[in-house]
Amino acid sequence: MVKATAAKKFSGKVLAMIQKGRDVRDPALSKDGEMRVDWAARDMPVLESITARFKRSKPLDGHRIAACLHVTTETANLALALAAGGARVRLCASNPLSTQDEVAAFLAKQKGIEVYAIRGENRTVYYDHLRAALEFKPTITMDDGADLVTLLHTEYTNLIDGVVAGTEETTTGVIRLRALAKAGKLGYPIIAVNDALTKHMFDNRYGTGQSTLDGILRATNLLIAGKNVVVAGYGWCGRGFAMRAHGHGAHVIVTEVDPIKAIEAHMDGFKVMPMDKAAKIGDLFVTLTGDINVIDKQHFAVMKDNAVVCNSGHFDVEINLKALKKMTKGAREIRPNCVERTMPNGRRIIVLAEGRLVNLSAAEGHAPSVMDMSFANQALCAELIAKGRAGSEKIVYPVPEKIDTEVAKLKLKSLGIAIDKLTEEQQEYLASYEIGT
Ligand code: ADE
Repeated sequence: MVKATAAKKFSGKVLAMIQKGRDVRDPALSKDGEMRVDWAARDMPVLESITARFKRSKPLDGHRIAACLHVTTETANLALALAAGGARVRLCASNPLSTQDEVAAFLAKQKGIEVYAIRGENRTVYYDHLRAALEFKPTITMDDGADLVTLLHTEYTNLIDGVVAGTEETTTGVIRLRALAKAGKLGYPIIAVNDALTKHMFDNRYGTGQSTLDGILRATNLLIAGKNVVVAGYGWCGRGFAMRAHGHGAHVIVTEVDPIKAIEAHMDGFKVMPMDKAAKIGDLFVTLTGDINVIDKQHFAVMKDNAVVCNSGHFDVEINLKALKKMTKGAREIRPNCVERTMPNGRRIIVLAEGRLVNLSAAEGHAPSVMDMSFANQALCAELIAKGRAGSEKIVYPVPEKIDTEVAKLKLKSLGIAIDKLTEEQQEYLASYEIGT
């Protein structure tokens, strides 16, 4: 008999889906999902080695993990690793458009993982799925963007004491959680997986670089060479995408608010200018800032006919689509994930993936090889939490250096790359101050 916790907005629908143990588009898709998950696993050797160890030692025995992540082939391999470690796992989507339905079907039908995720779910269903995950009374939360943890801290405060600790996958989520901690309201420790070097240096840079381009190409089939590509934000994700767009022959323009990052973009060989100016000359605009209304009304007003705008930041707030809707007469879906909006004077603006993460909505997210390191960090941090070693303060903790280095070593080993070791003499030199010129 499933009983609801004290949540205010718990509905009969949530109860029904929990009783069923899943809410996925179509369990019959599971065979296709199995093949895709297996394909991704072949390029996730670090996670594979952790899974093998977890199978033997069961470090997560007795834990209930509520995971709010993009439901992709790579996430499926993480969920299987956690289950191999003895955890019970409930998975919901961290974005309404990123779920791969066949993956959700595979995990739910063949692997006994409770999945609540349907690609294209509306906001109500999205939050019902988060509620279904929280009704699990998790001992560990695993979040990507901090929606799950925020819901837990608003509707489900009665569950906070039962959570040992959590992890957070992405820059935006870490920023939100630090704000929660600063306000003195974070109820348990969270490990910022995003801040591990083996996460953001590879996932945010090479992962976002490639998958964003992939999403744009799948949605538009446009040639990148020769285009003015405006990259808003030069953090790790922006750097990665700018690098890949440049590699395709684009004239890359970077917009920034941070003076240091702006110099970096300049010295990396890109034009740097304010968005007001870039808006007039861009052919393709990509936002990767984590902030709101980076492309706004005044920018749409001066864009060229057929300018394409899309977002690869976590939330769909970076492009002011409400303003665009008001400025245009109507919308027409030209291709999947590619909507044309027309101004009264006939000028057209093309919006990809409804302003949501274009790499996960129009493509499949980051490639397995980078998610291998991100999710190895997740799995090892879950183990750390289960061992009671995550830290006891209600703050956002970094990933311990030991875990970061272990992930790097395992990755290098899997790639067959050997590196040098410091000699004793070199170690001594690095620890000394006496030897000068
Ligand atoms: N974030 C970006 N790419 C992802 C992927 N392939 N799986 C899960 N989360 C992601």
